[in-house]
Amino acid sequence: MCGIVAYAGTKNALSILLDGLQRLEYRGYDSAGIFISNPKKDAVLKVKGKVNELRLLCDKETKEELFPIGLGHTRWATHGKPNESNAHPHVSNNKELILVHNGIIENYETLKKDLIQRGYTFESDTDSEVLINLFEEIQKTQQVSLEAAVQIGLNKVIGAYGIVVFDKKKPHELIVARLGSPLAIGIGKNDFFVGSDATPFLEHTKEVVYLNDFEMARLSFGEDIQVSNFKENTQIKAIINQLTFDLEHIQKDGFDHFMLKEIFEQPKAIENSLRGRIDLLKEEVQLDSVQKHESIFKNTKRIIILGCGTSWHAGLVGEYLLEKFTRIPTEVEYASEFRYRDPIIHKDDLVIPISQSGETADTMAALKLAKDRGAFIFGICNVVGSSISRETDSGMYTHAGPEIGVASTKAFTTQITVLILLSLKIAALRNTIQASESKRLLDELIQIPDLISSFLKQISEIKEIAKIYHKASNMLYLGRGFNFPVALEGALKLKEISYIHAEGYPAAEMKHGPIALIDKEMPVIVIATKKGHYDKIVSNVQEIRSRGAKIISIVSSGDESIKKMSDHCIEIPESDEIFSPLFATIPLQLLSYYIAILRNCNVDQPRNLAKSVTVE
Ligand code: M6R
Repeated sequence: MCGIVAYAGTKNALSILLDGLQRLEYRGYDSAGIFISNPKKDAVLKVKGKVNELRLLCDKETKEELFPIGLGHTRWATHGKPNESNAHPHVSNNKELILVHNGIIENYETLKKDLIQRGYTFESDTDSEVLINLFEEIQKTQQVSLEAAVQIGLNKVIGAYGIVVFDKKKPHELIVARLGSPLAIGIGKNDFFVGSDATPFLEHTKEVVYLNDFEMARLSFGEDIQVSNFKENTQIKAIINQLTFDLEHIQKDGFDHFMLKEIFEQPKAIENSLRGRIDLLKEEVQLDSVQKHESIFKNTKRIIILGCGTSWHAGLVGEYLLEKFTRIPTEVEYASEFRYRDPIIHKDDLVIPISQSGETADTMAALKLAKDRGAFIFGICNVVGSSISRETDSGMYTHAGPEIGVASTKAFTTQITVLILLSLKIAALRNTIQASESKRLLDELIQIPDLISSFLKQISEIKEIAKIYHKASNMLYLGRGFNFPVALEGALKLKEISYIHAEGYPAAEMKHGPIALIDKEMPVIVIATKKGHYDKIVSNVQEIRSRGAKIISIVSSGDESIKKMSDHCIEIPESDEIFSPLFATIPLQLLSYYIAILRNCNVDQPRNLAKSVTVE
């Protein structure tokens, strides 16, 4: 789970690599390194730590020289500690080949043993260094080019990888390959760019080739890109896609952090998720991706939703929505559990993997398992062209735009938006919803972006609450029905960016154990919107209050009963219960954000985490 950048052309690779790596730090940031080369000089520079530190080292070591080719890497450790020698790029024993790698080589120990017997030595504990020496050995023993050595070598390797390799004997050429780890190749006028995604080269080119699994490419200065399948040893025509987002989409726009920017982007993001999917005249949901497979959605007997983290929480909301509207039994599974428990999958099951990045290894493996067993796969992803989106039979993009902050925010609310549309569409196909009810809900749904925008203008009380509770050691989040997953999501947000221990619970479960935790020190956040189990949650709040907890409630505007019982109260717009997660989530995101800031935490890059978890 690392970020890769590479460049070959006539511009200065150094600045392209450093800027690109900075944009990819969401993928990992425990160490970073680059290799740069020109006819007179080449250098491998590495640091333990972030790209800023690498930048300082480069300033010291490279002066004003021009390097037209180079590779860069920002690491999230899998094999070996985060330190300089384990940082990439890795260099082969003969010092001729240089490699950056994202992924895991599962049979690296066997390969390493063999290479050691042949006299190779290793400077790092990484699986990646094995790969580069394997290529050297093949080049040497079989007298072949680097391209051929990579093709032969990868057929001996078990695991997942996105790699870029350079051979000093061919100083204008890069070889790239992928299996399981994403790689995007930017095609410039006179140059090539490589990235784990397209963000490193957005300002340079909009033309991108996404490599598929088992594909490799030769990027040779002055020639066209050459793509081949390294398993079948066949040439492939490169498909050039046009990028539709700009650099300003991935910058902070005056916000202190990406997370805050992304929280405030939610009205626009939800609007984009809805765009073109509601026929305003007919007032019905229009989804070609469902319509095209009408019989599958009409006849399916069961839906299985797969996801991890926040996407799993969105899946829980999806379960409530799909069962309510379509009456199809729906299960939500942690992808990591599903993939290893030999699940029962029927051919008429509809499987919905949900993933912001579209690169989460567990979700990918779980969907592949379901696909192999004959289920129809309908993906919900944010990143266009991502690995998961390309494995599915059909699907919907959330169109939230790039999410850079490690803590998912707009991804969650847009996933829910898409799940609402999907549920209403399937329900319409199966005649399990009245047209008038669907119209009523769609009318309400299209107002939501504006309502969230207005809410975001009055958040001063959330900052005040953060000031009071930022030193807490524990927090409880309670909700019922559609707001139970919101409680889980609120707790996850707090844990991951402020490092405060937090738990989400269905409010009624309190009395089955967790109520024992409550004392005067414990802040309890209760999501208690008007529609949906309101009376029940009033009773739950009374139970907690009588045990002395501090109550922070999220209520529908105009609420009086719960307000009276609460120490602090945040009012959100009143809505149908199915929409309440879209509103209730937002104050919880902000509360976590402001608490984390007061605790001096690195909000966009919390410790031990990375944006996409591309290892299991
Ligand atoms: O990219 P994905 O949606 O597949 O990612 C799944 C989780 O890794 C992700 O939601 C994670 O839990 C976030 N850090 C939560 O904020």
